[in-house]
Amino acid sequence: METLLLTTSEQDITKAAEIIRKGGLVGMPTETVYGLAADALNPKAVMSIFEAKGRPADNPLIVHISNINDIEKFGLTAEIPEKALRLAEKFWPGPLTVIMPKGKNVPPQVTAGLNSVAIRFPSHKGAQALISKSQRPLAAPSANLSGSPSPTTAQHVMNDLGGRIGAVIDGGDCEVGLESTVVTLCTNPPTLLRPGKVTLEELREVLGEVNLSSAVLEKLKDKEEAPSPGMKYRHYAPNAKVYLVKGDDRAFTEFVNSKTGEGVLSLCYDEDAARICVPYITLGKKGDYDEEAHNLFSALRKIDETPNIKTVYARCPDTKGVGMAVYNRLIRAAGFEVIDLYE
Ligand code: TXA
Ligand code: MG
Repeated sequence: METLLLTTSEQDITKAAEIIRKGGLVGMPTETVYGLAADALNPKAVMSIFEAKGRPADNPLIVHISNINDIEKFGLTAEIPEKALRLAEKFWPGPLTVIMPKGKNVPPQVTAGLNSVAIRFPSHKGAQALISKSQRPLAAPSANLSGSPSPTTAQHVMNDLGGRIGAVIDGGDCEVGLESTVVTLCTNPPTLLRPGKVTLEELREVLGEVNLSSAVLEKLKDKEEAPSPGMKYRHYAPNAKVYLVKGDDRAFTEFVNSKTGEGVLSLCYDEDAARICVPYITLGKKGDYDEEAHNLFSALRKIDETPNIKTVYARCPDTKGVGMAVYNRLIRAAGFEVIDLYE
């Protein structure tokens, strides 16, 4: 199949919406990462998302809307929870996904048989235009092959899914660079399942008490059930082996510099670059969590494009604010392997 590369012009959005309405798949730009969109109300189209990505069928999808009224209009939930309205008021359109009881119109293929549904209203104009023009809610996971880092450019989507999907809309570099924050209202108090640009602190300001799922920062124990199915899968990992290294500036530099000649790459901050003697990629200025978030997935993809890299030592980000989201992705890229130089 030829994959069309489209722009966000009205004419191209119309083309993409036609593909969606015929049950096809479109790579859709959003402010977080690129999504692989299909008509959420068409079970066959939804199944083809899983096929194109190689995604396990028990991992549910997020339903994207372009107007808060879409929730009612398409019967996505029987009654919008009051807490969802408060979150929508503050964070939509934007990088927040809210899980609520599922309405009867949502096919089980979208929710992997769960009785809850994940809903997001993205702020990216290209995404909004595609959703409105399709006149459908759009089911969309990140548009990567299952297991790879999420795509933050149209080129990343082409690299992973070119030839398998109808089109990719190039809406530029994703501003946030990490997937949306996921919070479920199906527990009391609500639970943060995946950290993102909207932080735990910000959610607590709106909702009061919010629990942090233990799977956000720690590995699931054997046989422990994942509160969000996506948590149990290997994720975001480049082909090289990644270790997260805890230590101060000096200890980190000495550690990686003792590893020259071993196919080692260091994932570090701008400030470290001058002192590092192995190949490196920087995530930005130390403590600038937004910049780290923006650069992380491109950096993980670049690692795979750098020849002969076998091992990556990444500086361990701290877990404050948006830093929690960066940590959550990196610890998974590292398969929870941490080297603690403070010990
Ligand atoms: O920023 C994003 O959220 C991007 C863009 C495209 O919107 N989408 C995205 O989708 O990251 P995906 O499929 O890669 O991640 C969705 C996550 C998964 O971890 C999934 O398990 C969880 O949300 N999820 C979806 N529906 C759920 C539900 N009903 N209950 C619990 N977790 C759910
Ligand atoms: Mg994903």
